[in-house]
Amino acid sequence: MSEGIAIITSGGDAAGMNPAVKCAAEYAGKQGLKPWLVYGGLRGLINGDIIEAERSLISGILHRGGTVLRSSRSKEFFELSYREQAYQNLKKRGISKLIVIGGDGSFRALNQFYTDFGMPFAGIPATIDNDIAGTDYCLGVDTALNMIRGSIDSIRDTATSFSRAFVIEVMGRHCGYLAMVSALASGAEICLTPELPYDLDSIGARLKHQIENEGRDSILAVVAEGTQMADYVTRWINDSIGMEARLTVLGHVQRGGSPTVYDRIMAYKFAVAAIDTLQSGQKNAIMIHRKGTFGSLPISEVCDSHYEMDPAILKLCQPMTS
Ligand code: F6P
Repeated sequence: MSEGIAIITSGGDAAGMNPAVKCAAEYAGKQGLKPWLVYGGLRGLINGDIIEAERSLISGILHRGGTVLRSSRSKEFFELSYREQAYQNLKKRGISKLIVIGGDGSFRALNQFYTDFGMPFAGIPATIDNDIAGTDYCLGVDTALNMIRGSIDSIRDTATSFSRAFVIEVMGRHCGYLAMVSALASGAEICLTPELPYDLDSIGARLKHQIENEGRDSILAVVAEGTQMADYVTRWINDSIGMEARLTVLGHVQRGGSPTVYDRIMAYKFAVAAIDTLQSGQKNAIMIHRKGTFGSLPISEVCDSHYEMDPAILKLCQPMTS
């Protein structure tokens, strides 16, 4: 019987998960492994929702957003008895390797599983937050950025038509990557993130000068959710700068949508790297893409360090913070 490998998506869904699932299953088959699909994330492992990856289950999925395998954040997986149940579910199907597509919380959970039962896994970074240490890119980021760009472009239309200020709160949890890149891409006047110090007095002076002397009659402010400043800044623009301001919280629309070409190709490359890494004997590695090259890092290096923002992006964003 061929060795079984199970593919699971876990944590917050991200565009690119489906092409990664499809490619991982197909490539695993070509390597002589028997691919399985886990439905419902870690909860699915515990409940035994694990099905052989037949062609019908992995065709017609690569263009779809989210994850067709579905996902969850499972508290039960923190308990050894449930992890034991998950292990038995895999063992009785002849599965001895796992591919996990998700964020660092999911990687930590699978690493605990590896410590408990010696079940090797390879992690594929997938989160719109782009906050996983060691990799420059996580699946879903390009699609999310394009969703945000489309929304901000639309908001710019109404802002200029109506001479208003708009504050746009974008996701990212504690990370300001999405906010910074989308502020740059949409030509925002203000960008507030947890990473960069900002000075509202000097932002106010700059914009008032432009309103009084240069004909500025609209403002776009992109605010990362991690700052928790979106409400405050909206009122502040209204009261201190004197321009009518509205707040748009983009919310979960940023997580959906058909994966961009970039996310599809990155998904394929990450999936192939993950299978090759497992086949080469590595047991708990996370795939990374750094400075244009694919590789892997031991999970300890990924989970014990912090994501470092590209200094070039920080520098470009500086003028929007003062
Ligand atoms: O981690 C992805 C993410 O979308 C974050 O940007 C956001 O803070 C969080 O998940 C929202 O979580 P939930 O979908 O549980 O509301």
